[in-house]
Amino acid sequence: LDRQPFHGPHQAGIVTPQPAAALVVALDVLAEDRGELAKLFRILTERFVFLTAGGPVPPLDPRLPPADSGILGPQVLPDNLTATLSVGASLFDDRYGLEGAKPRRLRPMDRFPNDSLDGKLCHGDLLLQFCANTAETNLHALRDVIRHTPGLVALRWKLEGMLPPHVVKRQGQDTVRNFLGFKDGTANLDTRDDALMHRQVWVQPGSTEPGSGEPDSREPTWAAGGSYQVVRIIRNFVERWDRTPLREQEQIFGRHKDSGAPLGETDEHALPDYASDPAGTRTPMDAHIRLANPRTKETASSLILRRGYNYSAGITPSGQLDMGLLFVCYQSDLDAGFVAVQNRLNGEPLEEYIKPVGGGYFYALPGVKEPGGFLGQGLL
Ligand code: HEM
Repeated sequence: LDRQPFHGPHQAGIVTPQPAAALVVALDVLAEDRGELAKLFRILTERFVFLTAGGPVPPLDPRLPPADSGILGPQVLPDNLTATLSVGASLFDDRYGLEGAKPRRLRPMDRFPNDSLDGKLCHGDLLLQFCANTAETNLHALRDVIRHTPGLVALRWKLEGMLPPHVVKRQGQDTVRNFLGFKDGTANLDTRDDALMHRQVWVQPGSTEPGSGEPDSREPTWAAGGSYQVVRIIRNFVERWDRTPLREQEQIFGRHKDSGAPLGETDEHALPDYASDPAGTRTPMDAHIRLANPRTKETASSLILRRGYNYSAGITPSGQLDMGLLFVCYQSDLDAGFVAVQNRLNGEPLEEYIKPVGGGYFYALPGVKEPGGFLGQGLL
């Protein structure tokens, strides 16, 4: 029940329901050449297969360092773990001769007007996303991977995320509250809708720029079955938020705080009707949900699959709580998806309470269909 299959056309951890704990870590690759890079991808695949299936750790030999950190004991349980490997634009520089193989939209993360990006929290050659029932399982997986890849990777940045522990959140069905106290995920895409996932999340064989049939606008063949992944570390100014009147909070999102329903409604899952509110009397024109998804025919191409977590770190140098949203989303087209949505959100009233400080653009590799294959095999 709590074992997520590793093999399949797509990687796990994207349309997989969200367990309570997440860990994302960006790595830089130290491999000397493409052969070593392939070795790294093989090792990562092997470790992911073991960690997600679980099993006994190798026996202890008192003369050697233990083969496993031991933090989960002698028996590793699957604990709903998924491990998802994505690549960043920098992996396609001239080090490994992969320049021609880069997914067409992949690039260093854009800087948006409200961003205040900290270079130490941005980008990376690789991104690993671990999600599990418990934070310990994610940390065990991370330490296992580090232990098995000496000299091949360097840690760049990491952030852990959480959801209330009693839920496994099915995107587009279940909702939990974020750190501004609002239900998050109400209008997310329904991951049970295969046609929708194929259109909005998975890159299709030979997919092209919208409206363009040019062969050079095609995604590389190896990329089919993968997905563009955006990670954004978005701080929330929670002290300021907690001093903001409820009505203002609700106008900022366009939803009621207690029920999660669109303004003027009582059912959380009622569909907001913007057509009957063209001047924004009920739902302000600049409300977060109205800008994010105006629900017009023209904006249907910008639907994205969100898979974020809350995060709580330490205290900022100015003495405020450092907490917020570890925003993660997946889409088949980076520009038609996240970038289009974020451009509509630029300047939204919510910006007074949030500050994106890090993250990156990545490409989640296609899945490994059969045992014996490895992640990134088609790329290398
Ligand atoms: C909806 C919060 C950032 C895209 C929502 C909702 C909340 C929320 C409470 C309504 C419930 C729901 O449908 O999930 C936040 C907070 C953010 C943030 C606190 C930052 C700290 C972003 C960003 C994007 C985004 C960066 C994308 C660029 C969306 C979308 C919806 C949504 C697409 C659904 C709108 C709809 O279909 O009606 N967000 N959000 N959000 N948000 Fe955000």
